[in-house]
Amino acid sequence: MNILDIEHLNCAFGNLIVTDDVSLSIAEGERHVIIGPNGAGKTSLINQIGGQLRSKSGRIVLEGRDVTGQAPSRISRLGVARTFQRNNLFHNLTVFENLRLALTAKFGNPLDFFSVAARDQVLAAHAAELMRKVHLDGQGARIARTLSYGEQRQLEIGIALAGKPKLLLLDEPTSGMSPAETARMIDLIGALPRSLSVLMIEHDMTVVFSVADRVTVLYYGKILATGTPADIQANARVREVYLGMAH
Ligand SMILES: Nc1ncnc2c1ncn2[C@@H]1O[C@H](COP(=O)(O)OP(=O)(O)O)[C@@H](O)[C@H]1O
Ligand SMILES: [Mg+2]
Repeated sequence: MNILDIEHLNCAFGNLIVTDDVSLSIAEGERHVIIGPNGAGKTSLINQIGGQLRSKSGRIVLEGRDVTGQAPSRISRLGVARTFQRNNLFHNLTVFENLRLALTAKFGNPLDFFSVAARDQVLAAHAAELMRKVHLDGQGARIARTLSYGEQRQLEIGIALAGKPKLLLLDEPTSGMSPAETARMIDLIGALPRSLSVLMIEHDMTVVFSVADRVTVLYYGKILATGTPADIQANARVREVYLGMAH
Protein backbone atom coordinates (compact mmCIF):
# COMPACT_ATOMS: atom_id res chain seq x y z
CA MET A 1 0.00 0.00 0.00
CA ASN A 2 1.13 3.56 -0.60
CA ILE A 3 1.64 5.80 2.39
CA LEU A 4 0.24 8.71 0.37
CA ASP A 5 -1.87 9.12 -2.76
CA ILE A 6 -2.59 12.58 -4.07
CA GLU A 7 -5.32 12.55 -6.71
CA HIS A 8 -6.10 15.42 -9.08
CA LEU A 9 -5.40 18.05 -6.48
CA ASN A 10 -6.16 21.70 -7.23
CA CYS A 11 -5.53 24.80 -5.17
CA ALA A 12 -5.50 28.53 -5.86
CA PHE A 13 -4.99 31.84 -4.09
CA GLY A 14 -7.61 33.96 -5.83
CA ASN A 15 -6.71 33.77 -9.50
CA LEU A 16 -3.25 32.34 -8.87
CA ILE A 17 -3.30 28.59 -9.45
CA VAL A 18 -0.66 27.01 -7.21
CA THR A 19 -1.66 23.35 -7.57
CA ASP A 20 -2.89 22.30 -10.98
CA ASP A 21 -4.28 18.78 -11.24
CA VAL A 22 -1.46 17.21 -9.22
CA SER A 23 -1.51 13.42 -8.83
CA LEU A 24 1.33 11.72 -7.01
CA SER A 25 1.84 8.53 -5.02
CA ILE A 26 4.48 7.88 -2.38
CA ALA A 27 5.28 4.26 -1.59
CA GLU A 28 5.87 3.13 1.98
CA GLY A 29 9.46 3.85 2.94
CA GLU A 30 10.11 5.95 -0.14
CA ARG A 31 12.25 9.09 -0.09
CA HIS A 32 10.54 11.41 -2.55
CA VAL A 33 11.94 14.83 -3.36
CA ILE A 34 10.00 17.71 -4.92
CA ILE A 35 12.02 20.22 -6.90
CA GLY A 36 10.99 23.24 -8.92
CA PRO A 37 11.70 26.94 -9.23
CA ASN A 38 10.65 29.49 -6.62
CA GLY A 39 6.91 29.98 -6.60
CA ALA A 40 6.23 26.63 -8.30
CA GLY A 41 3.80 25.67 -5.52
CA LYS A 42 6.02 23.24 -3.59
CA THR A 43 5.30 24.62 -0.11
CA SER A 44 1.61 24.98 -0.97
CA LEU A 45 1.48 21.28 -1.86
CA ILE A 46 3.09 20.29 1.46
CA ASN A 47 0.69 22.64 3.26
CA GLN A 48 -2.27 20.86 1.70
CA ILE A 49 -0.93 17.46 2.76
CA GLY A 50 -0.34 18.75 6.30
CA GLY A 51 -3.83 20.28 6.44
CA GLN A 52 -2.58 23.88 6.78
CA LEU A 53 -4.01 24.82 3.37
CA ARG A 54 -7.33 23.74 1.90
CA SER A 55 -7.47 22.26 -1.59
CA LYS A 56 -10.13 23.38 -4.05
CA SER A 57 -10.70 19.88 -5.39
CA GLY A 58 -9.06 16.49 -5.56
CA ARG A 59 -8.18 14.00 -2.83
CA ILE A 60 -5.41 13.40 -0.34
CA VAL A 61 -5.33 9.77 0.76
CA LEU A 62 -3.16 8.57 3.62
CA GLU A 63 -2.69 4.79 3.85
CA GLY A 64 -5.94 4.33 1.94
CA ARG A 65 -7.88 6.78 4.12
CA ASP A 66 -9.27 9.97 2.60
CA VAL A 67 -7.96 12.87 4.71
CA THR A 68 -8.81 15.71 2.32
CA GLY A 69 -9.72 18.88 4.23
CA GLN A 70 -8.87 17.45 7.66
CA ALA A 71 -7.35 19.73 10.30
CA PRO A 72 -3.57 19.72 10.88
CA SER A 73 -4.05 18.20 14.36
CA ARG A 74 -5.93 15.24 12.87
CA ILE A 75 -3.38 14.76 10.06
CA SER A 76 -0.65 14.81 12.68
CA ARG A 77 -2.46 12.19 14.80
CA LEU A 78 -2.69 9.99 11.71
CA GLY A 79 1.12 9.95 11.49
CA VAL A 80 2.21 12.90 9.38
CA ALA A 81 4.91 15.16 10.83
CA ARG A 82 6.54 18.16 9.25
CA THR A 83 9.09 20.87 9.54
CA PHE A 84 8.56 24.39 8.26
CA GLN A 85 10.71 26.66 6.11
CA ARG A 86 11.20 28.88 9.17
CA ASN A 87 12.26 27.23 12.35
CA ASN A 88 9.97 26.33 15.10
CA LEU A 89 11.96 25.82 18.30
CA PHE A 90 11.68 27.08 21.86
CA HIS A 91 14.93 29.01 21.67
CA ASN A 92 15.35 29.55 25.42
CA LEU A 93 14.84 25.91 26.33
CA THR A 94 17.45 23.17 26.14
CA VAL A 95 17.62 20.53 23.43
CA PHE A 96 16.29 18.00 25.94
CA GLU A 97 13.42 20.27 27.04
CA ASN A 98 12.42 20.90 23.42
CA LEU A 99 12.28 17.16 22.78
CA ARG A 100 10.51 16.40 26.05
CA LEU A 101 7.81 18.96 25.23
CA ALA A 102 7.35 17.41 21.80
CA LEU A 103 7.09 13.93 23.37
CA THR A 104 4.55 14.97 26.00
CA ALA A 105 2.57 16.98 23.41
CA LYS A 106 2.19 13.81 21.39
CA PHE A 107 1.77 11.17 24.07
CA GLY A 108 0.39 13.28 26.91
CA ASN A 109 1.71 13.23 30.42
CA PRO A 110 0.06 10.05 31.61
CA LEU A 111 -0.67 9.67 35.29
CA ASP A 112 -0.67 5.90 35.14
CA PHE A 113 3.10 5.67 35.34
CA PHE A 114 4.35 3.89 38.43
CA SER A 115 5.97 7.10 39.59
CA VAL A 116 7.09 10.51 38.40
CA ALA A 117 10.64 9.16 38.41
CA ALA A 118 9.63 6.28 36.11
CA ARG A 119 7.89 8.71 33.76
CA ASP A 120 10.92 10.99 33.67
CA GLN A 121 13.12 8.00 32.93
CA VAL A 122 10.97 6.93 29.99
CA LEU A 123 10.92 10.48 28.60
CA ALA A 124 14.68 10.80 29.03
CA ALA A 125 15.24 7.52 27.19
CA HIS A 126 13.01 8.60 24.31
CA ALA A 127 14.68 12.00 24.13
CA ALA A 128 18.12 10.36 24.08
CA GLU A 129 17.04 8.11 21.22
CA LEU A 130 15.78 11.15 19.29
CA MET A 131 19.06 12.99 19.92
CA ARG A 132 20.95 10.03 18.48
CA LYS A 133 18.72 9.96 15.41
CA VAL A 134 19.33 13.62 14.66
CA HIS A 135 23.04 13.53 15.50
CA LEU A 136 22.73 15.63 18.66
CA ASP A 137 24.06 12.92 20.97
CA GLY A 138 25.00 14.28 24.36
CA GLN A 139 23.79 17.79 23.49
CA GLY A 140 20.66 17.67 25.67
CA ALA A 141 21.74 20.39 28.11
CA ARG A 142 22.49 23.01 25.46
CA ILE A 143 20.10 25.92 25.09
CA ALA A 144 18.52 25.76 21.63
CA ARG A 145 19.55 29.28 20.69
CA THR A 146 23.22 28.44 21.24
CA LEU A 147 23.12 25.62 18.69
CA SER A 148 24.55 26.28 15.24
CA TYR A 149 22.05 26.89 12.48
CA GLY A 150 22.51 23.35 11.17
CA GLU A 151 22.05 21.85 14.65
CA GLN A 152 18.81 23.82 15.09
CA ARG A 153 17.49 22.30 11.88
CA GLN A 154 18.52 18.85 13.16
CA LEU A 155 16.64 19.49 16.41
CA GLU A 156 13.54 20.48 14.43
CA ILE A 157 13.62 17.09 12.76
CA GLY A 158 13.99 15.48 16.19
CA ILE A 159 10.85 17.31 17.30
CA ALA A 160 9.02 16.14 14.18
CA LEU A 161 10.15 12.55 14.88
CA ALA A 162 8.93 12.68 18.50
CA GLY A 163 5.43 11.66 17.44
CA LYS A 164 6.71 8.50 15.70
CA PRO A 165 5.34 9.62 12.33
CA LYS A 166 4.86 7.37 9.31
CA LEU A 167 5.34 10.21 6.86
CA LEU A 168 7.79 13.05 7.36
CA LEU A 169 7.36 16.24 5.32
CA LEU A 170 10.46 18.44 5.10
CA ASP A 171 10.39 21.88 3.50
CA GLU A 172 13.91 22.75 2.31
CA PRO A 173 15.75 21.18 5.25
CA THR A 174 19.16 22.35 4.00
CA SER A 175 18.28 25.91 3.02
CA GLY A 176 20.83 28.36 4.37
CA MET A 177 23.22 25.59 5.44
CA SER A 178 26.96 25.46 4.90
CA PRO A 179 28.30 22.57 2.80
CA ALA A 180 29.39 20.76 5.99
CA GLU A 181 25.95 21.20 7.58
CA THR A 182 24.32 20.03 4.35
CA ALA A 183 26.50 16.91 4.31
CA ARG A 184 25.42 16.13 7.89
CA MET A 185 21.77 16.58 6.92
CA ILE A 186 22.20 14.17 4.00
CA ASP A 187 23.64 11.57 6.42
CA LEU A 188 20.85 12.15 8.91
CA ILE A 189 18.07 11.74 6.36
CA GLY A 190 19.82 8.74 4.81
CA ALA A 191 19.98 7.01 8.20
CA LEU A 192 16.27 7.43 9.03
CA PRO A 193 14.54 4.05 9.27
CA ARG A 194 12.75 2.79 6.16
CA SER A 195 9.59 2.38 8.23
CA LEU A 196 9.37 6.15 7.78
CA SER A 197 8.43 7.63 4.39
CA VAL A 198 9.89 11.03 3.55
CA LEU A 199 8.51 13.67 1.22
CA MET A 200 10.81 16.65 1.01
CA ILE A 201 11.25 19.85 -0.92
CA GLU A 202 14.86 20.56 -1.82
CA HIS A 203 16.71 22.91 -4.12
CA ASP A 204 20.27 21.64 -3.64
CA MET A 205 20.83 19.07 -6.40
CA THR A 206 23.57 17.31 -4.42
CA VAL A 207 21.03 16.62 -1.70
CA VAL A 208 18.31 15.69 -4.19
CA PHE A 209 20.45 13.13 -5.95
CA SER A 210 21.92 11.67 -2.73
CA VAL A 211 18.61 11.24 -0.94
CA ALA A 212 15.87 10.65 -3.50
CA ASP A 213 14.43 7.34 -4.63
CA ARG A 214 12.17 9.37 -6.89
CA VAL A 215 11.93 13.03 -7.82
CA THR A 216 8.95 15.13 -8.87
CA VAL A 217 9.40 18.39 -10.74
CA LEU A 218 6.76 21.05 -10.14
CA TYR A 219 6.47 23.97 -12.50
CA TYR A 220 3.74 26.60 -12.16
CA GLY A 221 1.69 24.21 -10.02
CA LYS A 222 1.85 21.34 -12.50
CA ILE A 223 3.87 18.15 -12.38
CA LEU A 224 6.36 18.29 -15.19
CA ALA A 225 7.86 14.87 -14.50
CA THR A 226 8.16 12.18 -11.83
CA GLY A 227 10.85 9.53 -11.94
CA THR A 228 14.13 8.25 -10.62
CA PRO A 229 16.93 10.80 -10.28
CA ALA A 230 18.43 9.38 -13.50
CA ASP A 231 15.10 9.75 -15.35
CA ILE A 232 14.81 13.33 -14.20
CA GLN A 233 18.37 14.22 -15.17
CA ALA A 234 17.78 12.75 -18.63
CA ASN A 235 14.37 14.40 -19.14
CA ALA A 236 14.73 16.99 -21.92
CA ARG A 237 11.77 19.10 -20.81
CA VAL A 238 13.05 19.22 -17.21
CA ARG A 239 16.51 20.22 -18.39
CA GLU A 240 15.03 22.93 -20.55
CA VAL A 241 12.81 24.55 -17.90
CA TYR A 242 14.64 23.81 -14.71
CA LEU A 243 17.96 22.04 -14.47
CA GLY A 244 19.44 24.20 -17.21
CA MET A 245 18.42 27.41 -15.49
CA ALA A 246 21.02 29.48 -13.70
CA HIS A 247 20.24 28.69 -10.11
N1 LIG B 1 -0.98 32.71 1.47
C1 LIG B 1 -0.77 33.07 0.19
N2 LIG B 1 -1.56 34.00 -0.41
C2 LIG B 1 -1.37 34.34 -1.70
N3 LIG B 1 -0.41 33.83 -2.49
C3 LIG B 1 0.41 32.92 -1.95
C4 LIG B 1 0.29 32.49 -0.59
N4 LIG B 1 1.24 31.56 -0.33
C5 LIG B 1 1.95 31.42 -1.48
N5 LIG B 1 1.46 32.24 -2.45
C6 LIG B 1 1.93 32.31 -3.83
O1 LIG B 1 1.71 31.03 -4.40
C7 LIG B 1 2.78 30.66 -5.27
C8 LIG B 1 3.37 29.36 -4.82
O2 LIG B 1 4.01 29.56 -3.57
P1 LIG B 1 4.77 28.40 -2.81
O3 LIG B 1 3.87 27.22 -2.70
O4 LIG B 1 5.30 28.99 -1.56
O5 LIG B 1 5.96 28.07 -3.83
P2 LIG B 1 7.39 27.37 -3.63
O6 LIG B 1 7.40 26.75 -2.28
O7 LIG B 1 7.50 26.41 -4.75
O8 LIG B 1 8.41 28.48 -3.76
C9 LIG B 1 3.77 31.83 -5.25
O9 LIG B 1 3.50 32.65 -6.36
C10 LIG B 1 3.44 32.54 -3.95
O10 LIG B 1 3.73 33.91 -4.04
MG1 LIG C 1 8.63 27.00 -0.59
